[in-house]
Amino acid sequence: MTGFPKICMPTPEAIRAAAHALNNAQLVGMPTETVYGLGAAIDQDAALEAVFAYKQRPFEDPLIVHVLTAQDAFSLWNLNAKTRPLVKALVETFWPGPLTLVARAQDGVSRLVRGGGDAVGVRSPAHPVARALLEAAGVPVAAPSANLFGHVSPTRAQHVADDFHDRPLLILDGDRSTIGIESTVLKVDDDGHLRLLRHGAIGEADILDVLKKNNLAASFSSKVPGQIAKKIEGPGQYLRHYAPHTPAWMLSRSESMPAGYETREILTLEAAACLDFAQRFAARRKDFHSYQDLSEDASIEGAARTLFQQLRTFENQTGHQVILLPELDPHQPEQQAVYDRIFRASEGKRAFIMGRELHLS
Ligand code: TXA
Ligand code: MG
Repeated sequence: MTGFPKICMPTPEAIRAAAHALNNAQLVGMPTETVYGLGAAIDQDAALEAVFAYKQRPFEDPLIVHVLTAQDAFSLWNLNAKTRPLVKALVETFWPGPLTLVARAQDGVSRLVRGGGDAVGVRSPAHPVARALLEAAGVPVAAPSANLFGHVSPTRAQHVADDFHDRPLLILDGDRSTIGIESTVLKVDDDGHLRLLRHGAIGEADILDVLKKNNLAASFSSKVPGQIAKKIEGPGQYLRHYAPHTPAWMLSRSESMPAGYETREILTLEAAACLDFAQRFAARRKDFHSYQDLSEDASIEGAARTLFQQLRTFENQTGHQVILLPELDPHQPEQQAVYDRIFRASEGKRAFIMGRELHLS
């Protein structure tokens, strides 16, 4: 299908038109507080197939379903005596918001949404435009991030239009996504075990706190980001994900290369666009081709909000060969979600500044 995207301000008429499009098996670019989604009504298999075609995404990657209320979610899940109280406490605390819960699906949920598996991931977005659209459409909306598969997630309407520039698509403009990285994804197994599948704004401690307050005992597992699972449980676990078109490296604060690393290429700093954090390399900002700080005052929320936008800005600039991203600490809980996106964007590669040279490993 060829055509072109159209960005609309979210007037009541535009929201009605977008709801009409969803109910007629067309796709809609939907703003959310995390990132923009590429939405399809869950009862329209042709539209669900188009989501995979637009994104060039493999069918085994399940889609997140967006709902207005917890009640809508309970009719998609098939919960049991172990999982129901856990899910109930979590949605009552965190919805609407950036928490996706994955649990066993009702048989009626399309295989396209489930990625062929037996579970469905659901979240209730907080963004007022997403909520108005869900209400007008009267049906849950499956929406992966509205970017080409493997590319940087979109945090503005224009990013969606850029990735799908040759596709017909109504995009509702909901301004900048205020969180800026994708939702936390938590899987609730049938036996009540909880598994963190993707780090996000809602952290492990927040989740454990809710369980404790509700007197719910559940085992919990999560991975420190940077250790990539051999068995892929979802697209967020592919190594090359969130990657800009220009190759990226994580810039180490160490001034010498630790054992186990070797220099593959030496560049000048002038060949690099540097995205910094907390002014670590501010004294050398003039040496880089371009320099921006994700958050001068070391706010991790601030860094999350601007990371994807900055990656897209740098990849659209010419004159540099590589993008440098700040190396954060994967063992600091509040840094894990942003570390995870930076690690994937750079495919885990590290760079070191030694004297006037930039050593790429
Ligand atoms: O913030 C977000 O979650 C955004 C906005 C649009 O809501 N959506 C998003 O979707 O990031 P996507 O498709 O780009 O990422 C989907 C993630 C994957 O990491 C995948 O592992 C997980 O959700 N996921 C969804 N359904 C799943 C399922 N049934 N089983 C396992 N993982 C699932
Ligand atoms: Mg995505």
